[in-house]
Amino acid sequence: MTADRRRWRIGAIRRATRNLFLPLDANGHPLLIKYTRDREEARQEIRGHARLLGHYRVPALHAHLRVPRGHLLAYERLPSAPDRGLLLDLLNTETVTAELQQYMDDLTTAYRNVILETAQEAPPTDVVRKLYWDRAAAGGRLDTYYRGANFPVADGIVDLPITRLAEYVLVANGQPLVFGWTATLRRLRAHFQGAKSVWAALTQGDPTDVNLAHPLAWLDYDTAGLNSILGEFANFLWYITALGGWLVPTYNRAAFADHPATFAHVEANWPRLHRVYVNHSARTIHVDYTPQLCAPRRAAAAAYWNLLVQPIADKLWPDGNLAELLRPYLAMRILAVYNLADLAPVDRLLLLVRLAEVTGPTFDPVTFFTTEEAPCLAP
Ligand SMILES: Nc1ncnc2c1ncn2[C@@H]1O[C@H](COP(=O)(O)OP(=O)(O)O)[C@@H](O)[C@H]1O
Ligand SMILES: [Mg+2]
Repeated sequence: MTADRRRWRIGAIRRATRNLFLPLDANGHPLLIKYTRDREEARQEIRGHARLLGHYRVPALHAHLRVPRGHLLAYERLPSAPDRGLLLDLLNTETVTAELQQYMDDLTTAYRNVILETAQEAPPTDVVRKLYWDRAAAGGRLDTYYRGANFPVADGIVDLPITRLAEYVLVANGQPLVFGWTATLRRLRAHFQGAKSVWAALTQGDPTDVNLAHPLAWLDYDTAGLNSILGEFANFLWYITALGGWLVPTYNRAAFADHPATFAHVEANWPRLHRVYVNHSARTIHVDYTPQLCAPRRAAAAAYWNLLVQPIADKLWPDGNLAELLRPYLAMRILAVYNLADLAPVDRLLLLVRLAEVTGPTFDPVTFFTTEEAPCLAP
């Protein structure tokens, strides 16, 4: 037996979002012990991991064990270091690197193949429901966040209760939009109550910058299984363009503690609010802003759109309107990750404007995700 194979070492415990992680070298094998308190989530994760095996590159799950207040999962530990090991790290650069381009090629190729192999029309009862159907259902996040709530649109900037926004025309970068808060919530609840089948395929289901490892591998499996393909697309695109560069590093700093370069780039990914003007007699609210996004995130969103969303859509929805198809999923990502009432007024206003754009008749996902250059505002 070599000295290396006999080596045992225990690292420091680390907290990611909700779970605890313990790096451990056992007989020279790098392991990561994940401790999760939620039994049901652990069960989903074990099942999800098994479903992805053979389709996506995932670290081995060597063992799992029920323990008094939770569950232990022993994974093969992939190489990582500060600011290394995740897709996130490839996005925290000044320019678009060849490494990022290669990564996006590999990522979209893997997804295209598995999605086309496993695509099926499934009733919504048969797909993973956590991020969309459960959140829109009675007692889900939409309810716990917003039932009976009437917070200001943006305290000190637009001092109007959110339910009265429908009485005004919201003019976003010169584009008049009518946005009803109550009607939007009602439509979303109704959409995710419907029994109509959805196109679904085998995916990991929560493709965030921190759940995608570099070199390419998939982490975090509690939503892995048969997922709505449109939900998968909305999730990736909203994370790349809003959550990963702007909202999560602002509101959940701890999630990115091992990737501190993220914080230096928030400024470049934060939409710029230029002017807000409320005219109560004309019932208009003018908001001028630029949806800023750094070049690597724009390139990743563009690659994902061109190499994955568009080719899959051409096959599955040849006559479909992608804006209409993506709308309810994207609206759920905007509303049901963070409670808008908990965010700083400027962020809440920017998200409400983005939501009004998504629900409006002129929504165009290509420009929305700034995969094309954002229109420049007059100085
Ligand atoms: N097998 C692994 N090897 C290396 N790092 C990992 C592994 N699994 C998870 N991680 C690291 O831990 C972070 C959180 O893991 P994840 O399983 O997504 O937990 P959570 O369910 O808390 O989001 C990941 O973003 C990654 O940085
Ligand atoms: Mg995760």
